[in-house]
Amino acid sequence: MIDPVSGTDKMLDVAIDAGKIVEIGKRLTAEPARRVIEAEGCIVTPGLVDPHVHLREPGHEYKETIATGSMAAARGGFTSICCMPNTSPALDSPELVRFVYDRAEAALREGGCRVFPVAAATKGRRGEETAEIQLCAKAGAVAFSDDGDAVASAGVMSRVLTQVKQTGKVFMQHCQEPSLTRGAQMHAGALSVKLGLGGWPRVAEEIIVERDIRLARGSGCRYHIQHISSAGTCEILQRARKDDEGKRLITGEASPHHLLLTVDACEGYNTQAKVNPPLRERGDVDALREAVAAGVVTVLATDHAPHSADEKALPFEEAPMGMAGIETALALYIEALVSSGAVSWKRLIAMMTIEPARLCGLDLCGIGMLKVGGPADVTVIDPEVSWTIRASELTSRSRNTPFDGRKVKGRARATIVGGCVVFGE
Ligand code: DOR
Repeated sequence: MIDPVSGTDKMLDVAIDAGKIVEIGKRLTAEPARRVIEAEGCIVTPGLVDPHVHLREPGHEYKETIATGSMAAARGGFTSICCMPNTSPALDSPELVRFVYDRAEAALREGGCRVFPVAAATKGRRGEETAEIQLCAKAGAVAFSDDGDAVASAGVMSRVLTQVKQTGKVFMQHCQEPSLTRGAQMHAGALSVKLGLGGWPRVAEEIIVERDIRLARGSGCRYHIQHISSAGTCEILQRARKDDEGKRLITGEASPHHLLLTVDACEGYNTQAKVNPPLRERGDVDALREAVAAGVVTVLATDHAPHSADEKALPFEEAPMGMAGIETALALYIEALVSSGAVSWKRLIAMMTIEPARLCGLDLCGIGMLKVGGPADVTVIDPEVSWTIRASELTSRSRNTPFDGRKVKGRARATIVGGCVVFGE
């Protein structure tokens, strides 16, 4: 069992009753148990937490619903996921926050994982007026973001941060200066020139990060950089965290594709590799891995962004951006970070459990840790099993992955949410 919060990394048994962890110890007697999961050779961890997924409900249920996404997440080893507000309509009101919770409750009863809404920071995600931030927080929004787009106006951003600060929640920014990325399709470089596609330069990300750190410091609001793609952003984040002396005001997240793929994956107009922010160059991938290894980037997310096969079959310029990643993230993170020697298992687990849980305040209800009396959200990981990612075998409603056919190692063997085995034996 590995539990980064208590620092545990030992051979232990975990006993669960009535949705809670009731005992953790050596060789607990299995006698009264109705069910025993033999986890020989496996790692028992707190249930994985994903702070960044797209579930497409309401509005684009043909791509994914709260139910289908949360079930796919359970298969991927996740017990809690936080869904982004770029739905149609956008999640910008307390009614819509409650709508997500209603659907999430139904999905949980059907064998999904927990789903927590991230509400829009501005009305309709248009970046013009602040949304009902206080009311959305009261309704249960765990964070605020206009993900899919940046809050581009500094004035609006400043007001958003002041409002979010009062809720105690975090603001998560999709860092993209829009005037630098008009018509952008992929990373701005030799390949975009060769393919004749609009380029998305690193500086468009970095400029927003630089600006926002100043604004966040001014307001005292917690600020989180979503899906970091550029080496320069890692550098800026490193400086900011050093200046903050461990106050955790500024955090950043990585996604599996930015740790494993480069812009070359877009060769041949491969729309499966089209994502926002875009895949960049080897130096960016290496810098991101180093930033994770050095504890500069502390949160791992999936940015699960399901799109239909028909949409991804469109010409590159018309195809939507994003990759379905919730069922493959764990194995890809193991490859990018543990097998490569960048981080230990314990650190990987921390970045997929307690770090995102703290970011979204879920630790306050015991999520992200294994402790007696806490919710029985547990993932059993088989670190040795070799398997091949097959897009056709994904259970998400969309199967858009650039990793089809990749041989990987490590997978969730069982996922337990509130004491119910929602996936596995
Ligand atoms: O590639 C992306 N897809 N990036 C985003 O920020 C949004 C997401 C989506 O919603 O499809």
